[in-house]
Amino acid sequence: MSEPLLEVKKVKKYFKVGGKKSLKAVDDISFSIKKGETLGLVGESGSGKSTLGRTVVGLHNATDGRIIFKGKDMSTLRGKEAREFNRAMQMIFQDPHASLNPRMRVIDIIAEGIDAHSLLKGKERKERVFELLEKVGLSQDHAKRYPHEFSGGQRQRIGIARALAVQPDFIVADEPISALDVSIQAQIVNLMEDLKEDEGLTYLFIAHDLGMVKHISDRIGVMYLGTMMELAESDALFEEPLHPYTQALMSAIPIPNPKEVGQRERIVLPGDPPSPITPPSGCRFRTRCPQAMDICANATPEWLEAKENHWVACHLYNS
Ligand SMILES: Nc1ncnc2c1ncn2[C@@H]1O[C@H](COP(=O)(O)OP(=O)(O)OP(=O)(O)O)[C@@H](O)[C@H]1O
Ligand code: SF4
Ligand SMILES: [Mg+2]
Repeated sequence: MSEPLLEVKKVKKYFKVGGKKSLKAVDDISFSIKKGETLGLVGESGSGKSTLGRTVVGLHNATDGRIIFKGKDMSTLRGKEAREFNRAMQMIFQDPHASLNPRMRVIDIIAEGIDAHSLLKGKERKERVFELLEKVGLSQDHAKRYPHEFSGGQRQRIGIARALAVQPDFIVADEPISALDVSIQAQIVNLMEDLKEDEGLTYLFIAHDLGMVKHISDRIGVMYLGTMMELAESDALFEEPLHPYTQALMSAIPIPNPKEVGQRERIVLPGDPPSPITPPSGCRFRTRCPQAMDICANATPEWLEAKENHWVACHLYNS
């Protein structure tokens, strides 16, 4: 088996929220990603997906735990090595409108990383931007325009070109298609899949729902209230979701074939997710879990490999 490109070990990210209180946005998460793999990450709003993605690429400092990229612990890197790490890991954001500076021309937006890392200048820089524009399905003429002159899908292409400009190895895509029209979503996913092959990329692909990540992901992780509840190969997760929360998410995916409606029961979870400032004791999902037992309030379920390559945190699988 190939070495992991990225290892996330017991990572926590707590935010201070006045006084002694802290908000446990990411709490003790461990997983790894192999080179060339796409790991999908799902969970409802506020579950900590963006915080995890930002912590992984170094936009947040982890409160605890270790992030190891290409065998190196990112917290120990300084100077040149730290800069190299910043180049190798890039992020694509949900809202291409908010993440592109409206006063900058596309050429300068795309070249941001090239400039920050002093990679190319003058004619070479310009040619590299032209090449990137074509790579993402835009044209050279677009280089001198401003973000407002583009559609949502085109702006996301600009965001992708900006991430690619520094030839990263790893990209965290934080809901890159959620803000786009459904008709455009597939185009962007296809572009990202093609680029992955051409550029030899590895992705952490964040989305709200399972339907969005199903096709692009080799494996999928499911988060709830700052913790990872289940992680498995995509097919295995869809065939046999183990965690009651995943089962509920799965039951909410629209069924394309009307003949199958009725064969599957929709699990509606009671209430809203609790606050990550005062999460429930034991299993964080217990206040909404249809299968909660006494032990669920008293003990945090272990993160264990219930089946080969299929990880889950739930007392139903603790033997
Ligand atoms: N900078 C911050 N300071 C304080 N709290 C934060 C900060 N960033 C995120 N949070 C909180 O951390 C929790 C996780 O937020 P996060 O944005 O990571 O969730 P998410 O899963 O990405 O949600 P969404 O689907 O809405 O994007 C939320 O309760 C959020 O309010
Ligand atoms: S540990 Fe208990 S409360 Fe949590 S998901 Fe499993 S059965 Fe439900
Ligand atoms: Mg988010």
